[in-house]
Amino acid sequence: MIVNVRNNVDWVGKIDWELRSFHGSDYSTHRGSSYNAYLIREEKTVLIDTVWLPYADEFVNQLDSYIGLDHLDAIVVNHGEVDHSGALKTLMARRPDLPIYCTAKAVDSLKGQYHSDWNFNVVKTGDVLDVGNGKQLVFVEMTMLHWPDSMASYLTQDNILFSNDAFGQHYATAGLFNDLAKQEELDYEALKYYANILTPFSAILRKKLSEVLALNLTIDIIATSHGVIWRDNPLQIVEKYSAWANDYQEDQVTVVYDTMWEGTRHLADAIASGIASVSPHTVVKVCNIAKSDRNDVITEVFRSKLLVVGSPTVGNNMLSEMAAFIHFVKELKFKKKLGASFGCYGWTGEAPKIMSEELEKGGFKIVAEPLRCKWNPDEAFIEQAVQFGKSLAQAL
Ligand code: FEO
Repeated sequence: MIVNVRNNVDWVGKIDWELRSFHGSDYSTHRGSSYNAYLIREEKTVLIDTVWLPYADEFVNQLDSYIGLDHLDAIVVNHGEVDHSGALKTLMARRPDLPIYCTAKAVDSLKGQYHSDWNFNVVKTGDVLDVGNGKQLVFVEMTMLHWPDSMASYLTQDNILFSNDAFGQHYATAGLFNDLAKQEELDYEALKYYANILTPFSAILRKKLSEVLALNLTIDIIATSHGVIWRDNPLQIVEKYSAWANDYQEDQVTVVYDTMWEGTRHLADAIASGIASVSPHTVVKVCNIAKSDRNDVITEVFRSKLLVVGSPTVGNNMLSEMAAFIHFVKELKFKKKLGASFGCYGWTGEAPKIMSEELEKGGFKIVAEPLRCKWNPDEAFIEQAVQFGKSLAQAL
């Protein structure tokens, strides 16, 4: 499948309808994804990025049928991660002379992954590649958005920003353009992508967005490397990124728990009802982490002002699903969020304290002493949990 993007620029990537997890099992992709590669056919024929390794033959054969590989003049590798560089080895086996334009860090990454010394041409911010007919590709380093090697490329006259991972979504959609996608799905997938992948880099992103906006480039199209191509009001996603990168919060609280024999679940419900009774307009989400998709829960946490975590104590610690969840929460380096903890226990009851300590290490401000319930909560303790929820709502 080949789709025209604008004038002599085509999408030549791969829609992956069957992908259900990404980055190993660290990111759920309920709606698949796409690996967006682009072909510029001016006086020079330039390929921007490739596709994930399993689709390498399909990709290279399609390119060969479309233009003939001999007509390719260069490849721009905006980012070396395998979902975009996976077809390079197959392509370079057939065109070993082809110049590759990429950052110095991408050379390191590509050599490390593919063990080949290809015709690398290192570029940095402001460098240009003339593609003919008066058009140029201008390169902009996007260091740590989200890898050290990341960069974007801007095609003059057509005003297309090839942004690579930035502004993307793991979202398979046959229409390919943002105006043809189901808006609710697109909005959610863009947010989930930011929350789960880009949150730790928000400070870098703020700086980079200012830098790019200061260049005063006319951007008519943002051609990402995953999901839709933004052609209808493309700056809407830039505005969203500006908001998300500034310690984004909605009026929301998320209660995340795991439970062995329902005691901690009863506490979670009581805490949620306490919060809702004091702050009725606050969205309160309650998730059993062992029965929920972790990346969807993280998306709820991203929207929240307060995260309340609960686990019974087992082996002097929290349950393992909660431990994995908190590990991921810490990795994302959220800022300006509040935290609290709770849980049932029979003997020692360390879990709530440990969870609060871990959240604190992850940058959360702990707003209450952990709520601990010996054995199962009776009616009086359920009321205590409701009051705990009320006190948390007052801290919002
Ligand atoms: Fe889509 Fe960082 O690769």
